[in-house]
Amino acid sequence: FSSPNAPNAPDFTALALRLRELDDAYYRDASPLATDAEYDLLRAEYDRLCDEQAIPESARYTRGVGDDHVQGFETVVHAQRMLSLEKAATRPEFLPGTGVDEGSEFVESEPGWENGTAWGRMKAWADRLVEVVGGSGQDLSLVVEPKIDGMSVSLVYEGGQLVRAVTRGDGTRGDVVTAQILASGAAPSKVPETSRFEVRGELYLPREAFENLNRNLSEASEKTLANPRNACAGLMKRKDASSLAKTGIRSFLYFVPNGQHAMPLPASQRSRLDWLVAQGFSVHPDVASVRGIAAAYDACRQFLDKRDTLDHEIDGMVVKLDDTSIHDELGNTEHHPRWGIAYKFPPERRPTRLLGISIQVGRTGSLTPVAELEPVQLAGTTVSRASLHNRSHLEKIGVRVGDTVLVQKAGDIIPQVVAVVPAKRPTESVPFEFPEVCPVCGSLLEDRGKGKDKRTKLPVQLIACSNTDNCPPQVVGRLEHFASRRALDLEGLGSIVAEALVENGIVRDVLDLFDLPINTLSALNLGTEDAPRIFGEKNATKLIEAITRARTAPLSKWLHALAIQDVGDAIAIKLASTHATVEALAKSASLAALDESGNLIEEDEQLGNQKAKKERSPEQQQIVDARRAVIKARIAELNPILRTAGIEEIGPIVARSVRTFFNSHRGHEILARLAALGIEPRGESRVIDGPLSGKTVVVTGSLAGYTRDSIKAALEGAGAKVTDSVSKKTDLLVAGEAAGSKLEKANALGIRVVDEAGLSRILEGTDSV
Ligand code: IVH
Repeated sequence: FSSPNAPNAPDFTALALRLRELDDAYYRDASPLATDAEYDLLRAEYDRLCDEQAIPESARYTRGVGDDHVQGFETVVHAQRMLSLEKAATRPEFLPGTGVDEGSEFVESEPGWENGTAWGRMKAWADRLVEVVGGSGQDLSLVVEPKIDGMSVSLVYEGGQLVRAVTRGDGTRGDVVTAQILASGAAPSKVPETSRFEVRGELYLPREAFENLNRNLSEASEKTLANPRNACAGLMKRKDASSLAKTGIRSFLYFVPNGQHAMPLPASQRSRLDWLVAQGFSVHPDVASVRGIAAAYDACRQFLDKRDTLDHEIDGMVVKLDDTSIHDELGNTEHHPRWGIAYKFPPERRPTRLLGISIQVGRTGSLTPVAELEPVQLAGTTVSRASLHNRSHLEKIGVRVGDTVLVQKAGDIIPQVVAVVPAKRPTESVPFEFPEVCPVCGSLLEDRGKGKDKRTKLPVQLIACSNTDNCPPQVVGRLEHFASRRALDLEGLGSIVAEALVENGIVRDVLDLFDLPINTLSALNLGTEDAPRIFGEKNATKLIEAITRARTAPLSKWLHALAIQDVGDAIAIKLASTHATVEALAKSASLAALDESGNLIEEDEQLGNQKAKKERSPEQQQIVDARRAVIKARIAELNPILRTAGIEEIGPIVARSVRTFFNSHRGHEILARLAALGIEPRGESRVIDGPLSGKTVVVTGSLAGYTRDSIKAALEGAGAKVTDSVSKKTDLLVAGEAAGSKLEKANALGIRVVDEAGLSRILEGTDSV
């Protein structure tokens, strides 16, 4: 339920990566990793975060319109781009059972309902329409159609014949599947209309045809398909079209793009559907015409009950402005036309009994209550465990062992308990008592903050074991992370080995690995006492070799491996390109400056707050102004350090985390241990390419233009290694006023000495060392 990477990786990026992974699985590999409802929730969360953080469109991960292209198919450009639809979905916290019923009028009293609920989104959509078409949202003539969960297709007819069928592809260019359509009989090959026109719709595989197909596949010992939509997509991409004849693929057509018909057509969606029927196309029988957005929403909701009675899958409803003559005027966004919106059904939920609650301690120390459930079928899998998130969720839904609960899959593949069914509570049940101490190591628990993660706004685990240094699951987590490919790449040290090493008390912290006797390692039991599984000599030798190699791994890998809060691999690379050693990082003047300036800026912002200002007396304000002047002066002093240090891309949060780490007991221990082990990870060759690259410099005396910190940062920023004492290895001594013994020693050793002006020339590049 938790990964050791979690505290480091910004959840925001993780979300984008997860979306990409799901998109690839879905579009490219035709084998989805998540249900649509799950995907949509993730997508919505990602969009919300982007909005919140004002991420520009160009920087967002987009793959709304997936690419269904398959190698070997001829591609053509669509006359009009095939777009997707804006989605109206209700976020999990607004779903039935969690306080607000999606369909109830109470929704509007809940804060955030405008963005968080399907109704809010649909209302906003209607309001935007009204701005263009006039009138009120309750007057709009709308058409409500089932949203078929299939594969979109564009068909072009000319002279009464189907001349071209094309998949959506990437929206701009799709694969030609005319032969497949003709062979499958999914759409008419001939129509009465002889003028050229294009019609768009959805190809789908009825449930029964899907089950038959899967039965045949499993009888032939072949991999079965995840759902009808993917099955349909897979079939359409068969190159031998003749095999499609009996597969049962069908279509519903729903759209004639404006401008893509050589003959006149009526100017309403409803009458165009009627025209399509007259041409022999299949049009969904459950299309409704309604007046007003509230009625459209009701029609969508009502269809939830009908959904399971259909012989094909739908994943929502589509609401369209009936008057097609306004469609062009409304225009499109980058991804979707403004004339329509897709209502997405909420994810499937099932009731089941809660048999017990176990508390898991994650790799980050977070306590996650886990529901042990009576097995229940949910969106295609059997579920017997589900997340209860954290203590506050548990308390919010007030769940007790023995309760009947609602289970849902959302966000990730992990199912979760979203609500209790109060009517089914057994009379003898008692409230669940959350543990007072860590169930693994018995240490005190700590509250890691309330509500949402400060930066990502995602909910965080609130309660965690305070024994970060020694709590076994946390040590295992660090060990796994330490050994992971992107860290020190200790192949052979996966979660099972890590657990065995920690459980047997062989490893208490990551650096213990470097003292590990090979015999201990080869005798390690990965199984149980009754069924032992010994690691063995061969594996042990290999792992020891990897550990030995890690001794000389570059600094960036080491920094990533140490699992410092907020230091993921990208930040580790940046830190390693501006600091030559772990020691240098631990004492970094530039990070100290960053940290300090971050604090000052924060303080200044608070002091500058207009509301607070109004509440101050003139005397109080005077004190505040004085403080702000001091802050301003100090920031001005720090600025040159921040500019010269090559740390532009590192923020104060990282700076603070790095400093906290190295100032902690464990940080000190790690530094001492590394030194004792003779491990000296080096910064990459990326070390600043400056006028002092590779030079060792010592500073002595006082300089007019620099503080002690800023001179160090300036020298480091120019690529120098700054040390404290003069030796034969010293390349340059910068001597200010009242220089003493260091200057004497430098002179004695014949080391070059410069004053402040001389240093300026070197830094400017008009002189060199
Ligand atoms: S109208 C701009 N009507 O849902 C696209 N689409 O997310 C106009 N879909 O790409 C589409 N049933 O593949 C429309 N009754 C329906 C639909 C429908 C399914 C699909 C279509 C579209 C996607 C939008």
